[in-house]
Amino acid sequence: MKTVLEPFRIKAIEPFRITTEAERARILADAHWNLFLVRAEDVMIDLLTDSGTGAMSAMQWAALMNGDESYACCRSFYELEAVVRDLTGYKHVFPVHQGRAAERILFGCMVQKGQSVPNNAHFDTTRANVEYLQANALDFVAPQARELQKSAQWKGDLDVVKLEAWLQQQPEGSVPLGLITITNNRVGGQPVSMQNLRAVSALYRRHGIPFFLDAARFAENAWWIHRLEPEWRDVPLPKIARAMFDLADGCWISAKKDGLVNIGGLLCCNDDGIAQKVRNLVPLTEGFPTYGGLAGRDLAALAQGLREVLDPDYLRYREAAATYLASHLVRLGVPVVQPNGLHAVYVDARAMLPHVPLSELPGQALACELYVQGGIRSVEIGTLMFGHPDPKTGAPVLADHDLVRLCLPRRVYTQSHVDWVIESFAELMDRRAKITGYEIVEQAPILRAFTAKLRPAAGGARR
Ligand code: F0G
Repeated sequence: MKTVLEPFRIKAIEPFRITTEAERARILADAHWNLFLVRAEDVMIDLLTDSGTGAMSAMQWAALMNGDESYACCRSFYELEAVVRDLTGYKHVFPVHQGRAAERILFGCMVQKGQSVPNNAHFDTTRANVEYLQANALDFVAPQARELQKSAQWKGDLDVVKLEAWLQQQPEGSVPLGLITITNNRVGGQPVSMQNLRAVSALYRRHGIPFFLDAARFAENAWWIHRLEPEWRDVPLPKIARAMFDLADGCWISAKKDGLVNIGGLLCCNDDGIAQKVRNLVPLTEGFPTYGGLAGRDLAALAQGLREVLDPDYLRYREAAATYLASHLVRLGVPVVQPNGLHAVYVDARAMLPHVPLSELPGQALACELYVQGGIRSVEIGTLMFGHPDPKTGAPVLADHDLVRLCLPRRVYTQSHVDWVIESFAELMDRRAKITGYEIVEQAPILRAFTAKLRPAAGGARR
């Protein structure tokens, strides 16, 4: 049998309103051609992010009722702590309200002004939290990740050779911790190999640098190791995950991804000294350390989510869903970042719309057109998100790429929803020469993509 089944039945449904193209064109104009400003009720298929957008299982909903809402030392915390210790092996477990809270607290304990933090690639909140402390966030992207449409294994890896050379030049004590993000979201949700994790761990250890994993998508990374590394083919997924965690001194997890919950995060470590500092900082923003900004029921749902996420049938379905979307897009001639990850498929908008000048935001042009065509919300990861006006001249500084990310929320959409996305792309491919760009009319000084107002670029003929 070729078909990979969704290993679940649907017990509760969430209806969405079917809109027309004319309606959507109006809605988008009212939202100043910024998809972040479109109301979710006006979106049919929401592929903006895989973060906090998944569907919980019946067991998770049942766990909610059993959450212990006591302020201090609630039972739900100890149940979660046991599950997380079993999964990661780390001694200290702190729940937090989401991933970026863990980043702020951990870096607040460890990073000083002027220091540098290396990573395979920092996700935007991770970078922002390092830079907020006036430290440097440095990316060591693997060379095989540079060519978007050329398939290569382990594009998420950290460039160990470059890191080693760089570390040798750093003054003693200037690198307070070293990171790796699994999977590597910034380069297309690409996985990191166990071999790379081992090499990076050994390197950080040799330099006496504490090593932390940004493990938002740890289960998806473990799945790729199982699928692609012969040594791990017959090893149960929890053992693979544990082997990854064993190589580091701690981790943080945005539980909104592989925790299979709508809100939540974790910060874990072995070192008693770091844990003490974390324990002192957590109450400032998250509350008592056993609830960490979450309700007892959230802790209970997360514990159950972590029990479910390493199910091989679930991860096999997740790979099949992403590969189905990516391979059908490739068949249509859509330039897709290769290979696809599990949490998203990324389209190279510069390659798909070569006639749209880079200053007119080809990624945003494609994302807007996809919304009008199919009511599908995606996210531009390109110049709108990562570009900025030059501080001296005001001239636009472009991003390296203009990608459109199609995220797959966990256990939410069926194959016919994905078919709708594919059909929408078929329509766009037919008329892509007529798709035109946008210009920014209003922007905030930081994280402009969330609130910027845009308009069709002057001279661009609209449909
Ligand atoms: N680290 C990684 C690798 C992430 O992808 C994210 C969030 C975070 C940390 C921050 O976690 O959102 O719980 O505070 N990524 C989301 C995304 C927002 O759309 O990729 P958070």
